[in-house]
Parts: sequence; structure tokens; C-alpha cells
Amino acid sequence: MSAVESELRLARRRDARRIANLSRDLIETGLGWSWTPKRVERAISDSETLGLVAETRIEIVGFGLMEFHTNHAHLTLFAVREAHQRRGLGTRMLEWMTESARTAGCDRIVLEVRSTNEGAQRFYERAGYASEKTLPGYYDGKEAAVRMVNDLIDPAVAEQKP
Ligand SMILES: CC(C)(COP(=O)(O)OP(=O)(O)OC[C@H]1O[C@@H](n2cnc3c(N)ncnc32)[C@H](O)[C@@H]1OP(=O)(O)O)[C@@H](O)C(=O)NCCC(=O)NCCS
Repeated sequence: MSAVESELRLARRRDARRIANLSRDLIETGLGWSWTPKRVERAISDSETLGLVAETRIEIVGFGLMEFHTNHAHLTLFAVREAHQRRGLGTRMLEWMTESARTAGCDRIVLEVRSTNEGAQRFYERAGYASEKTLPGYYDGKEAAVRMVNDLIDPAVAEQKP
């Protein structure tokens, strides 16, 4: 594996600090640090949460956390390090997590993204997500979120529809 190639694996509790630091720097910039190492560690330990990391020989370069609920999954954290963006890694990670949500029987994935984060919104749209609504003040009263939804239609069922 070269220095830029990455492997996907399940997150471990000892990844919590590195994931939390990346969340602070890549996702929560300008907001309070809500995904602290403790919170990330709790999420990784939770049996209803899937934690994924992308790792090169050197470091963690991408990560995602997804909570499973009765009928839907909630993508709570997701990012790729800047130097590794626009190379398909985000797509690879999202496909992995989407497949897990399908396997868990979820019929949709929901997420919130900062209203100012247009790049991420384009990324999710390309992956099949649609904006559902704006949530004013979602981030600690400081910034709105856009809720985006991906309906996981079973391709076999979709094909049967006229
Ligand atoms: C959003 C993010 C996860 C995308 O990861 P990535 O590995 O760069 O995504 P990919 O390379 O798989 O991109 C696939 C496609 O999505 C679209 N896309 C991705 N980033 C985009 C951007 N900044 N602006 C516009 N379109 C974008 C493009 O169509 C891209 O295809 P292309 O590179 O061939 O044009 C990454 O930019 C990131 O971590 N950003 C900072 C943290 C963040 O915003 N996380 C989401 C919080 S909800």
C-alpha cells in the first residue's frame, strides 16, 4: 500500500481521539467542539452505531459514524482529510456505509450538513441525497443545517415498477 492508498476498516475505541480531532478541524470549525473524544468513543462502543475509518500506512484520512434506528440510519459524522479529497474516497466510504444500512434493513439514510457547506451538499446530491428541509440554528443556535435524505429503494423493487 502506498502512502496515499487507504484501506477501510471498522473504527476502534482507540481511534476516538484522532477522529474527534479531525471532526473538530474538518467539520466543526467555528462551532463548539461537540464531538469530543469521549463522545466519539461512546459512539464507537455503541452496538447500534457503525464507525468506519480509512487509513493509509501513516494516518487516518477519512471516517464516518452512522447510527442505526428502527427504519432509518443517521449519518452523524463524515469527513475526508483535505489532502485526500476529490479522489473518490468519500464515495467509497459512503457506499460501504450505505450497503451496511441496506443490510440492516433501513429504508433511508438521513444526515445534517452545515447550510454554508455547499461542497458537501453537492457531494451528497451526487450520491443520491435530496435536501428535505432547513433547520435554523441547528448548530448551537449559530448556524442552520440542511437535512438531506437518501431513500434506499431496493433496485429489484424499483425495476418492477411500471
Ligand atoms: C464532503 C467530503 C466528505 C467529500 O469527500 P471526497 O472524498 O472529496 O469526495 P469524492 O472524491 O468521492 O467526490 C465525489 C463527487 O462529489 C462531488 N464533490 C465532492 N466534493 C465536492 C466539492 N467540494 N464541491 C463540489 N462537488 C463536490 C463531485 O461531483 C465529486 O466528483 P468529482 O471529483 O469527479 O467532481 C469531503 O469534501 C470532506 O470531508 N469535507 C469536509 C468535511 C465535511 O464537509 N463533511 C461532511 C459533513 S456532513
